[in-house]
Amino acid sequence: MIKIYYFSGTGNSFWSAKKIAQIIGNCELYNIGVEARKKKIILTAEKIVLVFPSYAYGLPLIVSRFVKDAEFKTPYIAAFVTYGSSPGGTLTALSRILKRKNISISFFGRIPSAENYLAIFGPPKTKKLERRLLMQRSATEEAARCIIAGNGNSVNAFRPFSALISFLFSIGVKIFYKRYRISAGCNACGICKKICPVSAIVMKDNRPVFTGKCEHCQGCIDICPLRAIQFGRVKFGTPGYRHPDVSISELALNNAEETVNS
Ligand SMILES: Cc1cc2nc3c(=O)[nH]c(=O)nc-3n(C[C@H](O)[C@H](O)[C@H](O)COP(=O)(O)O)c2cc1C
Repeated sequence: MIKIYYFSGTGNSFWSAKKIAQIIGNCELYNIGVEARKKKIILTAEKIVLVFPSYAYGLPLIVSRFVKDAEFKTPYIAAFVTYGSSPGGTLTALSRILKRKNISISFFGRIPSAENYLAIFGPPKTKKLERRLLMQRSATEEAARCIIAGNGNSVNAFRPFSALISFLFSIGVKIFYKRYRISAGCNACGICKKICPVSAIVMKDNRPVFTGKCEHCQGCIDICPLRAIQFGRVKFGTPGYRHPDVSISELALNNAEETVNS
């Protein structure tokens, strides 16, 4: 049995995780947003696979917390980062956390994907998006082959620049959630709340309210059907991004609160 743990805001990492599961067969998929809430996290399997996005050349905070807290009972760990342009030291950061726990990762892989950080880069252009989706597909298929073969490799040593950017992001993320703006056009459909992988959004007086649990994954901003959430370069009405082969209901099903309560 292979267990795949993923974290995903706009569906890229979820798509790769589910594609790997489809190719390998006999896999179980787990959302890190849900698993990280458990008091005791024990990862037991023949092989453990982690799939997550790069955030500011580092790990999303929740992924970092999850691997710090988890107990790994497995002979084989493979870690895959999805990224828009360069994952910098994301995999190194993961390797360093686990090394401190005397755990080594067997295989590291990089999966080029579409850029979802529209707050800086703006909406993806069609041609570039098509190219990135093809790259994601072939890197994901290769990832599945490497897991099946039980391949091994290693990552470069400490990357100070990435560590600095990632550290600054970890500070920024604690205040970014206060800067989201909701337009008067919001109809309180609650999709933002449903797809939030860490249940950081609550509805108050028919308005989404963001809490400090926000990971800044961009899911709500990108997926809002009315384009009613604003942050940075994503103005009201700016087209958003979601992996085209991941549906809103798939993302909602993987929402931490929905799963924990069901
Ligand atoms: C807050 C944030 C920071 C990001 N930082 C990086 C980065 O440093 N390098 C990069 O290549 N992509 C970066 N991205 C893009 C994502 O890593 C990429 O689009 C990823 O595939 C999104 O995965 P998801 O759809 O599973 O959330 C960033 C995205 C977000 C939301």
